[in-house]
Amino acid sequence: MLGNTFGRIFRITTCGESYGKGRGSGLAVIVDGVPPGLRITRDVIQKELDKRRPGIGKFNSPRKETDQCEIFAGIGQDGLTTGAPLGIIIYNVDTKKVHVEQYRSYRDIFRPGHATYSFFLKYGEYQDWCGAGRASGRETVARVAGGAVAKFILAREGIEILAYTKECMGIRCKEMSFEEIKNNYRKNEINCPDLAAAEKMEEKILEIKNQGDTAGGIIEIIAHNVPPGLGEPVFDKINALIAHALCSIGAVKGIEFGAGFGVGKMKGSENNDQPYMTPDGKVRFRTNNAGGILGGITNGEDIVVRIAVKPTPTISIEQISINMRTMKEETLKPITRRDPTLLGRIYAVAEAMMACAILDALYMARAYDALAKLDKKWMRLKGC
Ligand SMILES: Cc1cc2nc3c(=O)[nH]c(=O)nc-3n(C[C@H](O)[C@H](O)[C@H](O)COP(=O)(O)O)c2cc1C
Repeated sequence: MLGNTFGRIFRITTCGESYGKGRGSGLAVIVDGVPPGLRITRDVIQKELDKRRPGIGKFNSPRKETDQCEIFAGIGQDGLTTGAPLGIIIYNVDTKKVHVEQYRSYRDIFRPGHATYSFFLKYGEYQDWCGAGRASGRETVARVAGGAVAKFILAREGIEILAYTKECMGIRCKEMSFEEIKNNYRKNEINCPDLAAAEKMEEKILEIKNQGDTAGGIIEIIAHNVPPGLGEPVFDKINALIAHALCSIGAVKGIEFGAGFGVGKMKGSENNDQPYMTPDGKVRFRTNNAGGILGGITNGEDIVVRIAVKPTPTISIEQISINMRTMKEETLKPITRRDPTLLGRIYAVAEAMMACAILDALYMARAYDALAKLDKKWMRLKGC
């Protein structure tokens, strides 16, 4: 399996699957590019992992994973990072035989909407049939651990990353400022800061869940207080890096920045964000249709991104599929262990991947700036 690393300077490499064989199976991440002298404790990582943890609410898969992490590398005797790669592991604990046997019972029938068919194409009879292996939502626990490290480093630079549910089954969160969103962050299971909209969303999801079905939606991710000048103008545009980071999460089927697909209905005069000078000599913009990015480079406004999240593929409704051993059509029976929507968990993964992309771009920009030695006037605009 190729491509298990993300990033150029700040890099995360993950391994592990949903149901590895034997005692001690789990997920791990190696984080490269951590500065020395930081007090990155287990609690720093755990706080982020708890946002993504299954089995804690009415919209979460009943799988009871505690998602407790251990930092096994990169921390010295004084409890500070040494500058060596950080190693973090999260063991699987809820891998009961009854569930393994359930997966075994339909191991050759692919789950519509899931990655089983494409995994058969790539790994043949060796594809991991138990709990979807690397294509499982559980794979994302290691990213969240790596992303927690990125968030910690970004916070020291004053950069905050926050994601929330923007829309679910046609019910949309009203427009709110960053501070308003932050004040209502994680106030409900669906993590929608518009509390009235959240109530309607939750009702709708429960109705769909009771039909054995699942619900899709949209997550908005905001990176606040990002300095201008991150991103490279050609292949490594900051929007391209963010798209790589976010679209690598399972179930993400669309992405837009700022006004996004709305630009199709706008005139240039409506879309262009007009600049102004602040009293302290900075350039800011009166609107943010660009989502904080111009020419693939941050402009100092919030980076605003939305991702479309498809409904959980596993459903409790009978479906027609194909048995890959017999190559004949077969009925796939209803499956009970699943999330009725991914929205209440995937936001934590989106925050983690956004943090990894931005921190990596920050490293690149700072390295370039150190050698480019531009006139102070330009460095001041970048907050350096
Ligand atoms: C946090 C998270 C949890 C997920 N939980 C489930 C789940 O319980 N059941 C399921 O069928 N898919 C789940 N998924 C979605 C699948 O992983 C994903 O749909 C699958 O890998 C196919 O990839 P694709 O949807 O990108 O094509 C989850 C994804 C994420 C990010």
